[in-house]
Amino acid sequence: MTHKKVLVTGAMGQIGSELTGVLRRKYGRENVVATDIRKPEGVLAGSGPCDVLDVTDKTAVFTMLQKYGINTVYHMAAILSATGEKHPALCWNVNMNGSINIMDAAVELGLETVIIPSSIAAFGPETPRFNTPQETILRPRTMYGVTKVCGELLGDYYVKRFGVDIRGVRYPGIISSETLPGGGTTDYAVDIFYKAVEEGTYTCFVKEDTKLPMMYMPDCIKATIDLAEADKESLVHSCEYNLAALSFTAGELAAEIRKHVPGFEVTYEPDFRQAIADTWPATIDDSAARNEWGWQPDWNLENMTMDMLEKLRAKI
Ligand code: NAD
Ligand code: SER
Repeated sequence: MTHKKVLVTGAMGQIGSELTGVLRRKYGRENVVATDIRKPEGVLAGSGPCDVLDVTDKTAVFTMLQKYGINTVYHMAAILSATGEKHPALCWNVNMNGSINIMDAAVELGLETVIIPSSIAAFGPETPRFNTPQETILRPRTMYGVTKVCGELLGDYYVKRFGVDIRGVRYPGIISSETLPGGGTTDYAVDIFYKAVEEGTYTCFVKEDTKLPMMYMPDCIKATIDLAEADKESLVHSCEYNLAALSFTAGELAAEIRKHVPGFEVTYEPDFRQAIADTWPATIDDSAARNEWGWQPDWNLENMTMDMLEKLRAKI
């Protein structure tokens, strides 16, 4: 097996910042380059090579990959759903041109493996809302969702047309304690923990009965690396694996937190993100991921809530 030389794009983001640390521990800190359009700093900068990289700049992408002799890319740079609705042209540019540049690099520079995430945002209101199948209707209503469906299709095209190895999952909303989420619709499921610890009250921007698929960061990272390392022969799909761990309403999450933060008060004031949430599924059928590369989550609502509160209490 070739020695891994990994580059993470969007490494300052919610997922990239934690993924980079795990990859550095796994492959050696010198072998994992953290890049972002923002200058990497903090633990990320102190624990291995870092660089500024705008993924929409094709020349810069190619130069960076060659400079570090990269053979594996985790492409985490993106504009998420809520920011994407405020800035749709930016969302298209970063999500599509960024991904195309990475895919072209896979072909032209002969990268071994590329991970490009998709999202539950690929689904839309016509998609079956419960136990959403692997193969289903993909008619999103957000620019972010449009870029995710296009990214899946393009990735599959590059895999078949050029024989490159591009893989991806449809992440649910990711909950984590290290880096704040970067402008998505599922951000309330992280914000609520911070406010519970800091203030004991929270004003939630979706309705109490809004139910969405979610996942705790350790499961997200496990899934991402397991997929990247899965035996290619066992994979039937490439860029569009459904992935599930938890599904709960905003009210159920509040109630679980209240078990550990007595008197925690939550009010509900839905904003424009409610309309986005209403187009996404409640529960996901991830049997393809389970069958093809052995995916299974470790975290449930109860132990995730305890762990989040413990980590945030130590941090804040
Ligand atoms: P994030 O918003 O937290 O981080 C994205 C990073 O990309 C940021 O650090 C930002 O500075 C960087 N970036 C923006 N424009 C860039 C550019 N032109 N060039 C380089 N970097 C740029 O996002 P995340 O939550 O870490 O998401 C990572 C991936 O996972 C994305 O593809 C996202 O769509 C997907 N995803 C995330 C979630 C979630 O809940 N976090 C859910 C589903 C899918
Ligand atoms: N968490 C992401 C968002 O809300 C889903 O892709 O945008």
